[in-house]
Amino acid sequence: MTLLALETSCDETSAAVVRDGKILSNIVSSQIELHAEYGGVVPELAAREHLKNLTPVAQSALRDAGIAADELEAVAATQGPGLAIALIVGFKAAQSLAFALGKPFIGINHHEAHLYSPWISSPSSLGEKPAALIADFKNFQPNLSLIVSGGHTLLVLVESELKHRVLGGTIDDAAGECFDKTGKLMGLAYPAGPVIDRLAAEGNPRAYVFPRPLLYDANDDFSFSGLKTSVRYFIRDHPELLDDPQKIRDLCASVQAAIVEVLVVKTIRAAKRNGVRCVTTSGGVTCNRALRNELERACQKNGFTLRLAEKNLCTDNAGMIGILAERKLLAHAAPTPFDEEIKPGWALE
Ligand code: KG4
Ligand code: ZN
Repeated sequence: MTLLALETSCDETSAAVVRDGKILSNIVSSQIELHAEYGGVVPELAAREHLKNLTPVAQSALRDAGIAADELEAVAATQGPGLAIALIVGFKAAQSLAFALGKPFIGINHHEAHLYSPWISSPSSLGEKPAALIADFKNFQPNLSLIVSGGHTLLVLVESELKHRVLGGTIDDAAGECFDKTGKLMGLAYPAGPVIDRLAAEGNPRAYVFPRPLLYDANDDFSFSGLKTSVRYFIRDHPELLDDPQKIRDLCASVQAAIVEVLVVKTIRAAKRNGVRCVTTSGGVTCNRALRNELERACQKNGFTLRLAEKNLCTDNAGMIGILAERKLLAHAAPTPFDEEIKPGWALE
């Protein structure tokens, strides 16, 4: 099956062509620089940018894949969750294209698609082979998946293909949001996650002690707003730290250590409790080197196989949307009606 997938749930405009489990093209146009001066994603600007970029991005995806629009057998798009004003751009464009081509359309849950990213192999360094869904991914079910981004922090038990159960999520800020907001308090550029990652590499993670919220709670929920508030008060009481580059690095390493410890400990605990032998993770924060290293270490110690999404597939992209769309259509999922609307608050169950 050959299909085109569109993703516009937040600040990345993306289009991908997927055929038989392979991502033939995956174009991502990021709006990070546009939103940086506002210190966060501005929904209205995101929507305008999607409107401007979607057609050229989709054309590039078709061109890179060597596919003409009339060769498409289906069209997919992210239906939710996400920013309503942003989602609607890709969703309605995909619906209209499918309608015009007379092909099925399917709306995809963004988080369900993230569950597939760790199972997509990266293309070879020479770019000869397209990224593809790993053939034996079903052998690793059930698995425990951590989805960790700027908008979400979720622990999901993947029982079998297309069957999963959310075990817990954040009750306030997401982990990525915590990186971004604490970084802002330190005067770092948006998004601060990658900056903290870089500075923390030369800092002392034990220099300052910050709370590890809900670490010892029996449930699988997360909370990061208390950690952010604690960093705010700490900086208010010690403003001189921000004049010393080494102390900023130590601060970054200490904040990162708190976030990473909570994510790793709670993920491993949930994996043990649910008797899985495999842990996976995706979402922008999965790019964080300390998180990758600590998860690697903890999984090795506890005998879990770990699948980390490749860095270029951690963040939002239409390739993962297309991979899931094809799996669903092959499993005879009903196409989404042409008059159906976006679902901005569509929680994974
Ligand atoms: O998945 P994503 O691209 O978009 C959504 O939020 O859906 O994730 C973006 C988030 C931002 O909060 C960003 O700061 C964080 O991922 N991030 C990182 C790193 N790279 C991206 N956080 C920590 N370390 C990184 N290396
Ligand atoms: Zn995402």
